[in-house]
Amino acid sequence: MNDLEGRVALITGAASGIGLGLARTFAAAHMRVALADVRADVLDAATRTLAAGGASVLALELDVTDRAAWASLPDRIERELGPVRLLASNAGVNFVGATQEATYEDWDFCLGVNLGGAINAVHTFVPRMIAQGPPGHIIITSSVSGLFTNGGAGVYATSKFALTGLAESLSADLARHGIGVSVLCPGPVKSDLFESTIAVRPAALAATGSVPVTPAGVMRADTPIFATAMTPDEVGRCALRAVRRNDLYVMTHPEIHSMLQARTDALLAALPNSPIDPRRIEATRGLLDPSLYAAQAAKPPPD
Ligand code: NAI
Repeated sequence: MNDLEGRVALITGAASGIGLGLARTFAAAHMRVALADVRADVLDAATRTLAAGGASVLALELDVTDRAAWASLPDRIERELGPVRLLASNAGVNFVGATQEATYEDWDFCLGVNLGGAINAVHTFVPRMIAQGPPGHIIITSSVSGLFTNGGAGVYATSKFALTGLAESLSADLARHGIGVSVLCPGPVKSDLFESTIAVRPAALAATGSVPVTPAGVMRADTPIFATAMTPDEVGRCALRAVRRNDLYVMTHPEIHSMLQARTDALLAALPNSPIDPRRIEATRGLLDPSLYAAQAAKPPPD
Protein backbone atom coordinates (compact mmCIF):
# COMPACT_ATOMS: atom_id res chain seq x y z
CA MET A 1 0.00 0.00 0.00
CA ASN A 2 1.66 3.19 -1.18
CA ASP A 3 -1.03 5.83 -1.23
CA LEU A 4 -1.01 6.65 2.50
CA GLU A 5 -1.79 10.35 2.79
CA GLY A 6 -5.14 10.96 4.51
CA ARG A 7 -5.73 7.21 5.02
CA VAL A 8 -6.65 5.91 8.47
CA ALA A 9 -4.44 3.64 10.58
CA LEU A 10 -5.64 1.92 13.76
CA ILE A 11 -2.89 0.85 16.15
CA THR A 12 -3.54 -1.18 19.31
CA GLY A 13 -1.18 -0.94 22.26
CA ALA A 14 -0.38 2.53 20.95
CA ALA A 15 0.12 4.42 24.21
CA SER A 16 3.86 3.67 24.37
CA GLY A 17 6.74 1.73 22.89
CA ILE A 18 6.43 0.14 19.47
CA GLY A 19 2.75 1.05 19.07
CA LEU A 20 3.52 4.72 19.65
CA GLY A 21 6.50 4.45 17.29
CA LEU A 22 4.15 3.07 14.62
CA ALA A 23 1.66 5.88 15.29
CA ARG A 24 4.34 8.58 15.06
CA THR A 25 5.70 7.09 11.83
CA PHE A 26 2.28 6.77 10.20
CA ALA A 27 1.34 10.30 11.28
CA ALA A 28 4.61 11.58 9.78
CA ALA A 29 3.49 9.92 6.53
CA HIS A 30 0.35 12.10 6.80
CA MET A 31 -1.97 9.29 7.81
CA ARG A 32 -4.80 9.84 10.30
CA VAL A 33 -4.13 7.68 13.32
CA ALA A 34 -6.47 6.01 15.82
CA LEU A 35 -4.56 5.01 18.95
CA ALA A 36 -6.13 2.26 21.08
CA ASP A 37 -4.85 1.23 24.49
CA VAL A 38 -6.11 0.04 27.86
CA ARG A 39 -3.91 2.46 29.87
CA ALA A 40 -6.06 5.58 29.59
CA ASP A 41 -3.65 8.06 31.22
CA VAL A 42 -0.63 7.03 29.14
CA LEU A 43 -2.80 6.97 26.02
CA ASP A 44 -4.05 10.45 26.76
CA ALA A 45 -0.51 11.83 27.09
CA ALA A 46 0.61 10.12 23.86
CA THR A 47 -2.38 11.40 21.93
CA ARG A 48 -1.95 14.96 23.13
CA THR A 49 1.72 14.96 22.11
CA LEU A 50 0.87 13.67 18.64
CA ALA A 51 -1.97 16.15 18.20
CA ALA A 52 0.30 19.00 19.30
CA GLY A 53 2.64 18.01 16.48
CA GLY A 54 -0.19 18.51 14.00
CA ALA A 55 -1.34 14.90 13.57
CA SER A 56 -4.97 13.99 12.99
CA VAL A 57 -5.44 11.62 15.91
CA LEU A 58 -8.18 9.79 17.82
CA ALA A 59 -7.69 8.18 21.25
CA LEU A 60 -9.64 5.00 21.96
CA GLU A 61 -9.62 3.44 25.40
CA LEU A 62 -9.81 -0.26 24.57
CA ASP A 63 -9.05 -3.55 26.24
CA VAL A 64 -8.23 -5.75 23.24
CA THR A 65 -9.72 -8.78 25.01
CA ASP A 66 -13.14 -7.07 25.23
CA ARG A 67 -15.11 -8.27 22.21
CA ALA A 68 -18.12 -6.07 22.91
CA ALA A 69 -15.86 -3.02 22.89
CA TRP A 70 -14.33 -4.09 19.56
CA ALA A 71 -17.79 -4.31 17.97
CA SER A 72 -18.46 -0.57 18.31
CA LEU A 73 -15.00 0.50 17.10
CA PRO A 74 -15.28 0.45 13.27
CA ASP A 75 -18.32 2.75 13.14
CA ARG A 76 -16.78 5.17 15.61
CA ILE A 77 -13.46 5.40 13.76
CA GLU A 78 -15.23 5.70 10.43
CA ARG A 79 -17.38 8.56 11.78
CA GLU A 80 -14.47 10.45 13.29
CA LEU A 81 -11.57 9.73 10.92
CA GLY A 82 -12.72 7.54 8.02
CA PRO A 83 -12.49 3.83 7.14
CA VAL A 84 -9.51 1.92 8.52
CA ARG A 85 -7.03 1.05 5.76
CA LEU A 86 -4.08 0.07 7.92
CA LEU A 87 -4.70 -2.14 10.95
CA ALA A 88 -1.77 -2.65 13.33
CA SER A 89 -2.54 -5.27 15.98
CA ASN A 90 0.29 -4.61 18.39
CA ALA A 91 -0.95 -4.69 22.01
CA GLY A 92 0.93 -7.21 24.06
CA VAL A 93 2.06 -8.31 27.49
CA ASN A 94 5.17 -10.14 28.57
CA PHE A 95 5.82 -13.34 30.47
CA VAL A 96 9.10 -14.20 32.14
CA GLY A 97 9.78 -17.60 33.70
CA ALA A 98 10.07 -21.29 33.00
CA THR A 99 7.19 -22.60 30.92
CA GLN A 100 6.37 -25.39 33.36
CA GLU A 101 5.97 -22.92 36.22
CA ALA A 102 3.23 -20.90 34.51
CA THR A 103 -0.23 -21.11 36.03
CA TYR A 104 -3.42 -21.40 34.01
CA GLU A 105 -3.93 -17.73 34.82
CA ASP A 106 -0.57 -16.85 33.26
CA TRP A 107 -1.55 -18.71 30.09
CA ASP A 108 -5.01 -17.14 29.94
CA PHE A 109 -3.70 -13.63 30.55
CA CYS A 110 -0.79 -13.69 28.09
CA LEU A 111 -2.55 -15.63 25.32
CA GLY A 112 -5.73 -13.64 25.91
CA VAL A 113 -4.07 -10.29 25.26
CA ASN A 114 -1.40 -11.26 22.72
CA LEU A 115 -3.27 -13.80 20.61
CA GLY A 116 -6.89 -13.12 21.61
CA GLY A 117 -6.44 -9.39 21.02
CA ALA A 118 -5.15 -10.00 17.50
CA ILE A 119 -7.96 -12.47 16.76
CA ASN A 120 -10.50 -9.86 17.88
CA ALA A 121 -8.85 -7.21 15.68
CA VAL A 122 -8.88 -9.48 12.65
CA HIS A 123 -12.42 -10.68 13.27
CA THR A 124 -13.71 -7.13 13.67
CA PHE A 125 -11.92 -5.39 10.82
CA VAL A 126 -11.01 -7.85 8.08
CA PRO A 127 -14.58 -8.40 6.76
CA ARG A 128 -14.97 -4.61 6.54
CA MET A 129 -11.63 -4.18 4.83
CA ILE A 130 -12.59 -6.83 2.28
CA ALA A 131 -15.97 -5.16 1.70
CA GLN A 132 -14.46 -1.72 1.19
CA GLY A 133 -11.87 -3.13 -1.24
CA PRO A 134 -8.17 -2.21 -1.64
CA PRO A 135 -5.97 -0.59 -0.59
CA GLY A 136 -5.62 -2.22 2.78
CA HIS A 137 -2.83 -3.58 4.94
CA ILE A 138 -2.57 -5.41 8.26
CA ILE A 139 0.44 -5.51 10.58
CA ILE A 140 0.53 -8.14 13.30
CA THR A 141 3.21 -7.57 15.95
CA SER A 142 4.85 -10.89 16.74
CA SER A 143 8.50 -10.95 17.84
CA VAL A 144 11.74 -12.78 17.28
CA SER A 145 10.15 -14.96 19.99
CA GLY A 146 7.62 -15.91 17.32
CA LEU A 147 10.43 -17.35 15.16
CA PHE A 148 12.74 -19.18 17.58
CA THR A 149 13.17 -19.65 21.30
CA ASN A 150 15.76 -20.11 24.02
CA GLY A 151 13.26 -20.92 26.77
CA GLY A 152 12.63 -18.62 29.71
CA ALA A 153 9.52 -17.07 28.20
CA GLY A 154 7.50 -20.03 26.94
CA VAL A 155 4.04 -18.54 27.44
CA TYR A 156 5.08 -15.41 25.54
CA ALA A 157 6.79 -17.46 22.81
CA THR A 158 3.70 -19.65 22.40
CA SER A 159 1.58 -16.54 21.83
CA LYS A 160 4.09 -15.09 19.40
CA PHE A 161 4.53 -18.29 17.35
CA ALA A 162 0.72 -18.34 17.06
CA LEU A 163 0.75 -14.73 15.83
CA THR A 164 3.30 -15.58 13.16
CA GLY A 165 1.00 -18.39 11.99
CA LEU A 166 -2.00 -16.08 12.09
CA ALA A 167 -0.26 -13.46 9.97
CA GLU A 168 1.11 -15.92 7.40
CA SER A 169 -2.30 -17.61 7.03
CA LEU A 170 -4.04 -14.27 6.73
CA SER A 171 -1.56 -13.14 4.11
CA ALA A 172 -2.31 -16.20 1.97
CA ASP A 173 -6.07 -15.79 2.44
CA LEU A 174 -6.22 -12.04 1.76
CA ALA A 175 -3.94 -11.84 -1.27
CA ARG A 176 -6.90 -12.28 -3.66
CA HIS A 177 -8.64 -9.38 -1.94
CA GLY A 178 -5.70 -7.04 -2.51
CA ILE A 179 -5.00 -6.69 1.22
CA GLY A 180 -1.40 -7.08 2.35
CA VAL A 181 -0.29 -8.59 5.65
CA SER A 182 3.02 -8.13 7.45
CA VAL A 183 4.22 -9.87 10.58
CA LEU A 184 6.46 -7.60 12.63
CA CYS A 185 9.24 -9.57 14.37
CA PRO A 186 11.43 -7.19 16.37
CA GLY A 187 14.33 -8.07 18.62
CA PRO A 188 14.89 -5.93 21.74
CA VAL A 189 13.20 -2.52 21.59
CA LYS A 190 13.15 0.24 24.22
CA SER A 191 9.58 0.24 25.54
CA ASP A 192 7.35 0.01 28.62
CA LEU A 193 6.69 -3.73 28.18
CA PHE A 194 7.76 -4.88 31.64
CA GLU A 195 6.07 -2.00 33.45
CA SER A 196 2.90 -2.09 31.35
CA THR A 197 2.49 -5.84 31.84
CA ILE A 198 2.47 -5.32 35.59
CA ALA A 199 0.10 -2.36 35.24
CA VAL A 200 -2.47 -4.16 33.09
CA ARG A 201 -2.36 -7.56 34.79
CA PRO A 202 -5.79 -8.00 36.40
CA ALA A 203 -5.73 -7.64 40.18
CA ALA A 204 -7.62 -10.94 40.44
CA LEU A 205 -4.48 -12.74 39.24
CA ALA A 206 -2.28 -11.31 41.99
CA ALA A 207 -2.93 -14.20 44.38
CA THR A 208 -2.64 -17.00 41.86
CA GLY A 209 1.00 -17.81 42.57
CA SER A 210 1.84 -16.96 39.00
CA VAL A 211 5.36 -16.43 37.79
CA PRO A 212 6.18 -12.80 38.60
CA VAL A 213 6.76 -10.54 35.65
CA THR A 214 9.50 -8.24 36.80
CA PRO A 215 11.79 -5.86 34.98
CA ALA A 216 14.65 -6.73 37.35
CA GLY A 217 17.85 -7.36 35.45
CA VAL A 218 16.18 -7.84 32.08
CA MET A 219 15.50 -4.46 30.51
CA ARG A 220 16.92 -2.05 33.07
CA ALA A 221 18.45 1.07 31.59
CA ASP A 222 21.95 0.03 32.71
CA THR A 223 21.97 -3.39 31.01
CA PRO A 224 23.68 -3.95 27.62
CA ILE A 225 20.48 -5.39 26.16
CA PHE A 226 18.64 -2.15 26.92
CA ALA A 227 21.54 0.09 25.93
CA THR A 228 21.69 -1.52 22.47
CA ALA A 229 17.93 -1.95 22.05
CA MET A 230 16.29 -0.33 19.04
CA THR A 231 14.03 2.71 19.38
CA PRO A 232 10.30 2.40 18.63
CA ASP A 233 10.67 4.96 15.82
CA GLU A 234 13.28 2.80 14.10
CA VAL A 235 10.82 -0.10 14.27
CA GLY A 236 8.08 2.20 12.95
CA ARG A 237 10.19 3.06 9.92
CA CYS A 238 10.84 -0.66 9.22
CA ALA A 239 7.09 -1.32 9.43
CA LEU A 240 6.20 1.58 7.13
CA ARG A 241 8.71 0.37 4.56
CA ALA A 242 7.13 -3.11 4.76
CA VAL A 243 3.66 -1.65 4.17
CA ARG A 244 4.93 0.17 1.08
CA ARG A 245 6.76 -2.94 -0.22
CA ASN A 246 3.95 -5.30 0.83
CA ASP A 247 6.47 -7.43 2.71
CA LEU A 248 5.27 -10.51 4.56
CA TYR A 249 8.00 -10.22 7.19
CA VAL A 250 9.21 -7.10 8.98
CA MET A 251 12.59 -8.05 10.34
CA THR A 252 14.30 -5.31 12.31
CA HIS A 253 17.42 -7.03 13.69
CA PRO A 254 19.89 -8.61 11.23
CA GLU A 255 21.67 -10.11 14.28
CA ILE A 256 19.11 -12.96 14.37
CA HIS A 257 20.41 -14.49 11.13
CA SER A 258 22.29 -17.34 12.85
CA MET A 259 19.25 -18.28 14.97
CA LEU A 260 16.92 -18.40 11.96
CA GLN A 261 19.49 -20.47 10.13
CA ALA A 262 19.92 -22.82 13.10
CA ARG A 263 16.18 -23.44 13.41
CA THR A 264 15.72 -23.98 9.67
CA ASP A 265 18.70 -26.36 9.64
CA ALA A 266 17.24 -28.26 12.59
CA LEU A 267 13.84 -28.61 10.91
CA LEU A 268 15.37 -29.84 7.67
CA ALA A 269 17.74 -32.20 9.48
CA ALA A 270 14.79 -33.79 11.28
CA LEU A 271 13.10 -34.85 8.03
CA PRO A 272 13.18 -38.63 7.60
CA ASN A 273 15.78 -39.87 5.20
CA SER A 274 13.23 -42.03 3.34
CA PRO A 275 12.65 -41.64 -0.42
CA ILE A 276 10.18 -38.98 -1.59
CA ASP A 277 6.90 -40.39 -2.94
CA PRO A 278 5.93 -38.40 -6.08
CA ARG A 279 2.27 -39.49 -5.67
CA ARG A 280 2.16 -37.77 -2.28
CA ILE A 281 3.58 -34.59 -3.79
CA GLU A 282 0.87 -34.70 -6.45
CA ALA A 283 -1.89 -35.47 -3.93
CA THR A 284 -0.89 -32.64 -1.60
CA ARG A 285 -0.02 -30.07 -4.26
CA GLY A 286 -2.31 -27.44 -2.68
CA LEU A 287 -0.67 -27.93 0.72
CA LEU A 288 2.86 -27.70 -0.68
CA ASP A 289 2.43 -24.43 -2.59
CA PRO A 290 5.43 -22.29 -1.61
CA SER A 291 4.27 -19.10 -3.37
CA LEU A 292 3.61 -17.19 -0.14
CA TYR A 293 7.24 -17.58 0.91
CA ALA A 294 8.70 -17.50 -2.60
CA ALA A 295 7.17 -14.06 -3.25
CA GLN A 296 8.97 -12.62 -0.24
CA ALA A 297 12.21 -14.49 -0.95
CA ALA A 298 12.30 -13.05 -4.49
CA LYS A 299 12.34 -9.45 -3.25
CA PRO A 300 15.53 -7.46 -2.76
CA PRO A 301 16.38 -7.10 0.93
CA PRO A 302 15.11 -3.89 2.54
CA ASP A 303 17.70 -1.11 2.87
P1 NAI B 1 4.77 -1.30 25.61
O1 NAI B 1 4.41 -1.68 27.01
O2 NAI B 1 5.48 0.00 25.46
O3 NAI B 1 3.47 -1.35 24.70
C1 NAI B 1 2.47 -2.33 24.87
C2 NAI B 1 1.15 -1.61 25.00
O4 NAI B 1 0.09 -2.59 25.00
C3 NAI B 1 1.05 -0.84 26.32
O5 NAI B 1 0.76 0.52 26.05
C4 NAI B 1 -0.08 -1.51 27.05
O6 NAI B 1 -0.87 -0.64 27.83
C5 NAI B 1 -0.89 -2.11 25.90
N1 NAI B 1 -1.77 -3.20 26.34
C6 NAI B 1 -1.46 -4.23 27.15
N2 NAI B 1 -2.57 -4.98 27.35
C7 NAI B 1 -3.57 -4.42 26.64
C8 NAI B 1 -4.93 -4.72 26.44
N3 NAI B 1 -5.52 -5.77 27.04
N4 NAI B 1 -5.68 -3.91 25.65
C9 NAI B 1 -5.12 -2.84 25.05
N5 NAI B 1 -3.83 -2.49 25.21
C10 NAI B 1 -3.07 -3.27 25.99
O7 NAI B 1 5.65 -2.49 25.06
P2 NAI B 1 6.17 -2.81 23.56
O8 NAI B 1 7.42 -3.51 23.76
O9 NAI B 1 6.12 -1.62 22.72
O10 NAI B 1 5.09 -3.87 23.08
C11 NAI B 1 4.35 -3.75 21.88
C12 NAI B 1 4.36 -5.09 21.17
O11 NAI B 1 5.67 -5.38 20.73
C13 NAI B 1 3.94 -6.27 22.05
O12 NAI B 1 3.10 -7.12 21.31
C14 NAI B 1 5.26 -6.94 22.36
O13 NAI B 1 5.10 -8.31 22.62
C15 NAI B 1 6.00 -6.71 21.06
N6 NAI B 1 7.45 -6.84 21.08
C16 NAI B 1 8.22 -6.07 21.91
C17 NAI B 1 9.60 -6.18 21.90
C18 NAI B 1 10.47 -5.36 22.79
O14 NAI B 1 11.68 -5.66 22.91
N7 NAI B 1 9.98 -4.32 23.42
C19 NAI B 1 10.27 -7.13 20.98
C20 NAI B 1 9.37 -7.87 20.16
C21 NAI B 1 8.02 -7.72 20.20
